[in-house]
Amino acid sequence: MKYSPIKGLSRTLLAAALLGTGIISCNTNQNQNVKYATINDVPDKEPEVIEAVLTTPPMVPPPITRKNPAKVIVRLEVTEVVKEIAEGVNYTFWTFGGSVPGKFIRIRQNDDVEFHLMNHPDSKNPHNIDLHAVTGPGGGANASFTAPGHETVFNFKALNPGLYVYHCATAPVGMHIANGMYGLILVEPEGGLPPVDKEYYVMQGDFYTKGKFGEAGLQPFDMEKALDEHPTYVLFNGSVGALTGDNALTAKTGERVRLFVGNGGPSLISSFHAIGEIFDKVYPEGGLNINNNVQTTLIPAGGAAIAEFKVEVPGSLILVDHSLFRTFNKGAMAMLKVEGQENKEVFAGQTSSKIYLPEGANAQEMPSAVKPVASVANNLEQRVNLGKAVYAQNCQACHQAEGQGIAGAFPPLAKSDYLNADVSRAIGVVAHGLEGQIKVNGQVYNSTMPKIKLSDEEIANVLTYVYNNWGNKGGEVTTKDVARIKTTIVH
Ligand code: CU
Repeated sequence: MKYSPIKGLSRTLLAAALLGTGIISCNTNQNQNVKYATINDVPDKEPEVIEAVLTTPPMVPPPITRKNPAKVIVRLEVTEVVKEIAEGVNYTFWTFGGSVPGKFIRIRQNDDVEFHLMNHPDSKNPHNIDLHAVTGPGGGANASFTAPGHETVFNFKALNPGLYVYHCATAPVGMHIANGMYGLILVEPEGGLPPVDKEYYVMQGDFYTKGKFGEAGLQPFDMEKALDEHPTYVLFNGSVGALTGDNALTAKTGERVRLFVGNGGPSLISSFHAIGEIFDKVYPEGGLNINNNVQTTLIPAGGAAIAEFKVEVPGSLILVDHSLFRTFNKGAMAMLKVEGQENKEVFAGQTSSKIYLPEGANAQEMPSAVKPVASVANNLEQRVNLGKAVYAQNCQACHQAEGQGIAGAFPPLAKSDYLNADVSRAIGVVAHGLEGQIKVNGQVYNSTMPKIKLSDEEIANVLTYVYNNWGNKGGEVTTKDVARIKTTIVH
């Protein structure tokens, strides 16, 4: 069937109008108390016809309250859109409904689904859909193969309740998924899920761009990285920060929260965890069995889970893939901001902080010969050489071998306007550590630099090394400078 977006819209309006007049909506009142326990209990009358409400993540359509199966019409439009994958970084996403993940579909067990897949005329590629909720060849993939500017329709009965992934299955399948073509469909059991206060939709995916993490501009898909399963980004809901800061999920203390969590992959499995919360209930792998009191639940690529918990105390819960380099270096972080009354019984916060001396510590004496005498630099060249070793041991893991830093996480030390503007400030940072937001070469960073135990001589050496490398301004930081300044600049 030829598809033009305007025609599709008018059809939706027509169906809505018919529903409104009752022409295609049958006996909603008469059958309300009738229970259909199994697939074999066929109603006497034609089932109700319902146009499915689809939602953009992180929102979820309202729970299904009807007692009977219905004929549900789902209309999903594929579009290929350029959006930000990270600040200043664009990517051409292929989407189900304009978002990554695609729109959330909510139906009920034994519903008859009439599924319309429309591929926008501006698309460059054919697409289809494989719903894991479908019993039938390819999950509907062949039946829904749709060229740009076309619409296909296929029908299925939702036999098994659960939370299921759907995805595009057009070759090369991995690439279509890596470009964002996945989402979730919930098939509610008869009687529905127990009521909760908040429901959200979160889905992980791995992305492969030619440029490094954070490299600006329109980034093409990198097939080589995809084949090696080395993603540049691992994300919840399709972009860095999609669910943090102002976009964070919200709840109030005392509320029960249900997360519908999917993993589109295409390659990684997710160790899904909420920092600061225990999942009271998990429906592992999206089935209907329940595990209680879960810390981390494994979500396979092409799989899902439902996680539920009551939020007891205010604060920000951090949702992560507990393979934590993905979280802190590749973007896999979401946030749930909980507001409300403190509950000191549940969490009292820090109640004491004091000096700790292990038992008998003050009776011990340091063996005199143990501490090697540190080398002392006599000139600039020696200082730079000694500083190189200090850098390799203490700084390189975050700021990298060439001082280039890691975009979005650790600021560069190379050609750093922040360092070159103020040597005293730099001494203070190394001596005392740094917390909070700073701007380096136009980029904002908000990570923590720990206070590292370095002598004044080591601080002088490492800073002199940094200032004399990678396009920085040169000069010498002396031990005297460090001793003088570190006491005046206190963080
Ligand atoms: Cu596709």
